[in-house]
Amino acid sequence: MSKERVPRIIQGGMGVGISSWRLAKTVSMEGELGVISGTAVALTLARRIMERVDEEDVNRALDAFPYQKMIERIRSKYSPSTDEQFNKDRFKAVPIPTIEYSKDLLELTVVACFVEVYMAKYGHDGLVGMNLLEKVQTPTLPSLYGAILAGVDYILMGAGIPIRIPAVLDSLSSNLDTVLPIKIAEDDGTEIVYSKFSPTGFAEGEKLPELKRPKFLAIVSSAPLALHLSRSQYGSPDGFVVEMPIAGGHNAPPRGKLQLSETGEPIYGVRDEVDYEAIQKIGLPFYLAGGYGSHEQYVMATNLGASGIQVGTAFAFCEESGMEKSLKQRIIEAVKKGLGKVRTDPLASPTGFPFKVVEIDETNGIPEIAEKRQRICDLGYLREAYRKDNGNIGYRCPAEPVDDFVKKGGKLEETVGRRCLCNGLVATMGLGQKRRNGTEEIPIVTAGDDLKFVLRFLKPGQVSYTAKDVLRILLGKDLKQVL
Ligand SMILES: Cc1cc2nc3c(=O)[nH]c(=O)nc-3n(C[C@H](O)[C@H](O)[C@H](O)COP(=O)(O)O)c2cc1C
Repeated sequence: MSKERVPRIIQGGMGVGISSWRLAKTVSMEGELGVISGTAVALTLARRIMERVDEEDVNRALDAFPYQKMIERIRSKYSPSTDEQFNKDRFKAVPIPTIEYSKDLLELTVVACFVEVYMAKYGHDGLVGMNLLEKVQTPTLPSLYGAILAGVDYILMGAGIPIRIPAVLDSLSSNLDTVLPIKIAEDDGTEIVYSKFSPTGFAEGEKLPELKRPKFLAIVSSAPLALHLSRSQYGSPDGFVVEMPIAGGHNAPPRGKLQLSETGEPIYGVRDEVDYEAIQKIGLPFYLAGGYGSHEQYVMATNLGASGIQVGTAFAFCEESGMEKSLKQRIIEAVKKGLGKVRTDPLASPTGFPFKVVEIDETNGIPEIAEKRQRICDLGYLREAYRKDNGNIGYRCPAEPVDDFVKKGGKLEETVGRRCLCNGLVATMGLGQKRRNGTEEIPIVTAGDDLKFVLRFLKPGQVSYTAKDVLRILLGKDLKQVL
């Protein structure tokens, strides 16, 4: 398998931890593009170390990191060894992201992305990508640098307009000091606030390694946005993933005024249809995503001029995905019974983007359960920066305790129906926090409308399927495909 090969299938990045290193590695070894999620990996690496999850693989990756003093610090802080404070049932806190990272969090973030990419790339020469969300801004620079240190081949980024990323990748992969403007809520933009990363400062005087610049695929939902990005003064993406609103995870909001269906879901119309010819005219490779989980859809995409497809939902429920095993199994069983409906929730995500939620028992996908969760904001990845009255920067999240949000100038109506995706998604990978008062964070599961089709990947008599099963069916290598 040559690294120059153009992948036909991109296994979509799925946070938090669903597109695990193991899933990405399997897909990559099959000659396609395996993508790890870079979202909140600082937190999940720390919790993995505490829980000794994938210990041998994690240790191999930690040992390969170029700056070992940092690894000593991380190990001594998070290893479940002699720390008397460490309570086996609870996870030690990890610093919350802010614009200026503490040294601890900076090191942990770079190392975590390095580790995840390293583990996905270990032992073969296939292509591995990392997915980040534009909306989650403060970890972006250290996350990208960590992935680049591990030789990541592709960066994929959507959920916002990732216009600066081509220039950022040029700069970071040349080991140059790099900045990224951070959006400050309701600011008029006269005083730009930057997130900053210095590879030289990070290396603390040690020799800087030579780095490869990864390719960049921007995740977009329209031809005008793709065109705009391709003409940007900050450089063009190397290609696009064009994602439809039936995809799992966050979706682009419908164009125009938000209208809701009888079930309270956003209505998409003709203005949201994608002009594939216009995308093709840009002349860059593109992939179609959102409901492309079959061979017929793959063929259709290539007929529209796409290099291939990006698929998430089908991979999210396969054996190698990072979703907690019994939860995955419960959802497959529910789908067999015609349950496990996917709802596009216009409110759930603190980002304000529509977010797909699986309505499955014992999770925050059930509104009555979600409403009962006592609000607490202790992970903070989706907090937005805002300017306090004294001019300093503060942070707030519409899913945090309502009073706190309002005290920080947030609007009461913005808190309605918001879910703590940070804690819910981490619980979905089986690393949810247990609190002193005996409560436990419970999962929230996202999937695309394609969830109802996951049974097509199950062989008769089997209760689970593998990433290879998905690839075989997507690429039409299985004639007995059940529709
Ligand atoms: C469980 C899950 C989590 C996802 N998380 C992310 C994410 O963190 N970032 C992102 O860009 N896309 C995310 N997506 C979207 C996928 O990368 C992919 O584009 C999408 O799933 C394709 O559509 P499909 O779900 O119909 O296959 C997620 C999808 C799923 C199913």
